[in-house]
Amino acid sequence: MANYEKLDHWSLKAQKEGYPARSVYKLKEMDEKFGLLPAGRAGGRGKSGADSGNQSTGGGRSPFRVLDLGAAPGSWSLYALRKLGSDIFLSAADLSPLSRQYDKGLFDADNVFFIQGDITAAETREALISHGPYRLLMSDAAPATTGNRSVDTLRSLGLAEAVLDYAEAALEKGGNLALKVFQGGDTAEILKRIRELFKTGKSFKPAACRSESFETYYLGLDRR
Ligand SMILES: C[S@@+](CC[C@H](N)C(=O)[O-])C[C@H]1O[C@@H](n2cnc3c(N)ncnc32)[C@H](O)[C@@H]1O
Repeated sequence: MANYEKLDHWSLKAQKEGYPARSVYKLKEMDEKFGLLPAGRAGGRGKSGADSGNQSTGGGRSPFRVLDLGAAPGSWSLYALRKLGSDIFLSAADLSPLSRQYDKGLFDADNVFFIQGDITAAETREALISHGPYRLLMSDAAPATTGNRSVDTLRSLGLAEAVLDYAEAALEKGGNLALKVFQGGDTAEILKRIRELFKTGKSFKPAACRSESFETYYLGLDRR
């Protein structure tokens, strides 16, 4: 019952606040804790940790570029677009289309590039990299679960490796990463690679994760 209540709480909150998935609260919590998306850029107020010390900040300068992998139905993309207003360029990709239920045309704007495709495919990768480099790479990508934990974990690790290839190729110096991984496999290798690419690498489990879920997130902060 407790789990059901928790699920119900986050899903209802997402509906009420106009997001197609409860997962938005995982990104929100990581953003609040690690400063992934700069606060107040659109209005010229304040600075976040992700923002400080970077040349691509402030009104009139180049937009804050975000890459969202495994983006559908689109809550993380919507959160970023709403937070940064016109001061963002967002690239997003997923096997499935984005939900148009709550976006109010935001996904049609010129500052959004979406590709429906496999993030591990060469053509998707080329298209996304050509719209970079990015300041933030966020990936909530997860394989369709089979119920076999070792199969699911292995597939999740495969996606995580692909995401790290994007971080290597398309994330600018000083940029940040938030990456979902299913726990249980060789996540130590993932963390090792993150620490090679970023000055700080850590894991974090947001409160909005279902308690029975074996997913967790890895943060890479300050790309070397
Ligand atoms: C948990 S959902 C993402 C939710 C999203 N962050 C949101 O807030 O709306 C995981 C997504 O990963 C996508 N995905 C899984 N494998 C993929 C792949 N190889 N290429 C692209 N997308 C993939 C799935 O289609 C699914 O939409």
